Amino acid sequence: MIVRILFSLVAILLLAPFAGAQGLAEALQDCPGIVVVSNSASQQIHLQMTDDPTEMSVIWATGGRSMNQIVEYQRGPDLLEVNAESYCYGNHNMAFHMATMTGLPLGEEIEYRVGTQNAQMSEFYTFTTIDPSENHFEWISIADHGDSSEALDVSEAIIADESAQMVTVSGDIAYADGEQSAWDSWFQEQQASMTQIPWVTAVGNHENEPGYEFAPYEHRFDSDQQIETETFWYSRNVPGVHMTFMSTEHDYSVGSTQFSWLEQDLSSVNRDVTPFVIVYGHKPMYSSNSYHGSEVELRTALEELYVAQGVDLVIAGHDHFYERTWPVSGETVMDTGKDNLFYRGQGPIHLVIGMAGRSAYEELDEPQPEWSAYRENNSYGWTRLVYDGNDSQLSLTHYRIDGTIGDQFTITDSTVIGDSEDANILGLTGIDSLLMVIVLLGAVVRKR
Ligand SMILES: [Fe+2]
Ligand SMILES: [Fe+2]
Repeated sequence: MIVRILFSLVAILLLAPFAGAQGLAEALQDCPGIVVVSNSASQQIHLQMTDDPTEMSVIWATGGRSMNQIVEYQRGPDLLEVNAESYCYGNHNMAFHMATMTGLPLGEEIEYRVGTQNAQMSEFYTFTTIDPSENHFEWISIADHGDSSEALDVSEAIIADESAQMVTVSGDIAYADGEQSAWDSWFQEQQASMTQIPWVTAVGNHENEPGYEFAPYEHRFDSDQQIETETFWYSRNVPGVHMTFMSTEHDYSVGSTQFSWLEQDLSSVNRDVTPFVIVYGHKPMYSSNSYHGSEVELRTALEELYVAQGVDLVIAGHDHFYERTWPVSGETVMDTGKDNLFYRGQGPIHLVIGMAGRSAYEELDEPQPEWSAYRENNSYGWTRLVYDGNDSQLSLTHYRIDGTIGDQFTITDSTVIGDSEDANILGLTGIDSLLMVIVLLGAVVRKR
């Protein structure tokens, strides 16, 4: 009896700091498989972008319910510490920790590390805060990733890319499908990138896992810094671009909470600040792959809104191939551009980029639909996007894992081009300025 009482007292003392955040009874119930340890090496360390550019959250895992987890970071002359909130989910035997660095200067390098206070800290990592007022931004977008050898090639390319400032994933991220150690190794594989740049995600059908539903996704990523809940639709602003992340895995029908949020989010974009709008979601409205094909229900509910709100790009996955549509509305091609250059506002261009690692779906609908501009069904790779504020252009390049380019196009904001690029030729644009030069040259020759 005395031994049991002593054991209980020791357990209470050991758990007390953790219990402060969660309540002892809850903590004991919530994490049945986790052993309490005094410290444990941090792993799966990843940045998590909040909606405030002066903040950055970081999430990491430990193999035990380790106490006193903190993030330590340098802000100007100050070395600061923030206590993490610790949590777990289901019966998975790892603890997760989340802390948010605040008051960060924009566009500057921040050094940080995580771990057990005064004991086992990680090495130092560095990231650069995103300054939304910059006029240049580069990032990588992928979907349908997993851990195949092709997926690892994509991961390596991302890690090697020193100019990319962010990665987006349009769902079907780790393909854990109920096997939680698959998530652990996926995060470990991406850690070299995820400690330096934020990965921002839209949820896919493979994040809805047998026995867990969305809980692993909700606890491992965090769009709202609310442990135990997840906002499945949210937006982020980066230089020149408003990015909307939506869920094709939750109700999006007209009148739904998500639909109302999308209406409000897309209609409140300040195009003077972010001229381009991209919607990221998992299932595609347009796909000519025979495996899944176009998600017609999604198109019926949301296409009109996207067209009305001048969405420039919709970046999806789900079908494991690459496809780009022309600017399109209701299956009607609105524009075919010129040499892969498009003026914005003609209609959204839809992309399926589900070729980051999962087995390719090779069978395509024939003939190729008119709205389909380019498709590729037997390669793996990623897309890389660049916003160039000087020319007010948004460019996308589709890279294969062998380093070759599959597709490339640019969207330009015509009003800005008229205002800036050609303003030195009497404010005329394109062919008009060329004609003006010929007329002026003719006048000079005649005068001689
Ligand atoms: Fe997939
Ligand atoms: Fe999928």
